[in-house]
Formats: sequence, structure tokens, C-alpha cells
Amino acid sequence: MNINSKTAAANAAVEYIENHMVVGIGTGSTVKPFIEALNKRVEAEGMTISAAVTSLESRNALHKSITIIDPSLSQLIDITVDGADRASRDFYIIKGGGGALLREKYVALNSKKNITIIDESKIATPLNGHPLPIEIITFGYESTLKRLDILGFRGKLREADGKTFVTEGGNYIYDIEIKEDIVNPRAMHTSLKGICGVIETGLFLQTSDIIIIGKNDLSVDVWNKGK
Ligand code: A5P
Repeated sequence: MNINSKTAAANAAVEYIENHMVVGIGTGSTVKPFIEALNKRVEAEGMTISAAVTSLESRNALHKSITIIDPSLSQLIDITVDGADRASRDFYIIKGGGGALLREKYVALNSKKNITIIDESKIATPLNGHPLPIEIITFGYESTLKRLDILGFRGKLREADGKTFVTEGGNYIYDIEIKEDIVNPRAMHTSLKGICGVIETGLFLQTSDIIIIGKNDLSVDVWNKGK
């Protein structure tokens, strides 16, 4: 993992932002340099930008002149920029390492265009090599974990500072161990969503339009969906 590659992807993504846009802002260490680059443009060019944020962390990093809008509103977002834990060449993505997957999915589905920014280490076709986070309801979570186990989904309830991690939406995260390639992400997502207590999965099913891969030499590769 190298900060250069993240910065390269972030800097390439900020070029897609235009004045007066409503921008969806993801969460994580790759989004951080994107926010810094966006703040610089807003300052230097006097841009008027509104933002739908997926976490408090991202909200707090934004330039003070950026208007924050509630991502739960039905207003369409022009473009969202977010990171990923894994991305495949056929645009399936694992997200949720930062625990913000539910809000991230809301914002992605409410966006006219989605850009995913990653470094080369995140590419996996098919998806593998990273646990799959899912968001589960706290009520009766032990029964939810039993139902997951019966269907062969085994993993760990996420913890932070010695306590069960609670998302900004007030839910738990269960990180499912992925031992084999995810050959059919749609089917896996559908089975998980069919389990009582599972709110959302970190599988993003071709919601992204553009994937920008940053490299250590500061160059980028850009994948466009369907090409
Ligand atoms: C946050 O919940 C995640 O979906 C992040 O976008 C993902 O974990 C990538 O994070 P990094 O950019 O920090 O690797």
C-alpha cells in the first residue's frame, strides 16, 4: 500500500468534478486525498459544491464552503467518488472495510455516476482475498449469526477498541471469511439478503461506472464499464 497510488487515483477523480455539482463523498484512506484535492479546487476556483457524505469522518474533512446535504434525501447526486476493498475487471466490488457500507450503497445507488478509486493491490478478478463485510441488525444478532453459519457464511463480528463495532447507522458489521473466489457475486448477495437480520452486503454489483487505479509512479489506469 502506497500513499502515492491513492493520491494518483484521487487526483484523477477530482478532474471529473464540475462547478455546481452535488458530489457523493465516500469514506476511507483513498477518499482522504480526494477530499484534499477537492478542497483545493473549491478554494482556488471558487467552486460551488454540495456534498452527500457517507461518514462523519469525511464530513469533517470537507472545506467549510461546501454545503452538506442529507444523503437520505431523494435528491440525485451528480457524481460519487469512493474507495473499495477489492474491485474486479467486471466491475464487482467489495466495500465496507471502514464500516460505512450501507450509507455508501445508498449514495452510490442515488448517483448519476460513480467513480471508484483504488490502488493496484485492490484488483481481484474474480473477487477474492478480502473478507466480505455485511451490516446486520443488532436485535437478535446471535440468531442472525446462526442462520449465516447454517448457510456456510462464517466470519467475525467486527470489534473496535475491545467492543463490538457499531456503524453510524447503529448496526453491527459481520466480516465473512472469503476462502475461495466469489464466482457469482449476484447470487451471493441475493442469498445473504434473504437472511433475516441482514441489512445490506458489501458487494456492490456493477454500481460503479469508472474505476481509477492509481500506481506508485503516480500514473493511473482508467476502466470504463462496458469497455
Ligand atoms: C468504507 O466503508 C469502505 O467501503 C472503504 O471505501 C474501503 O474500505 C476502502 O478503504 P481504503 O480506501 O481506506 O482502503
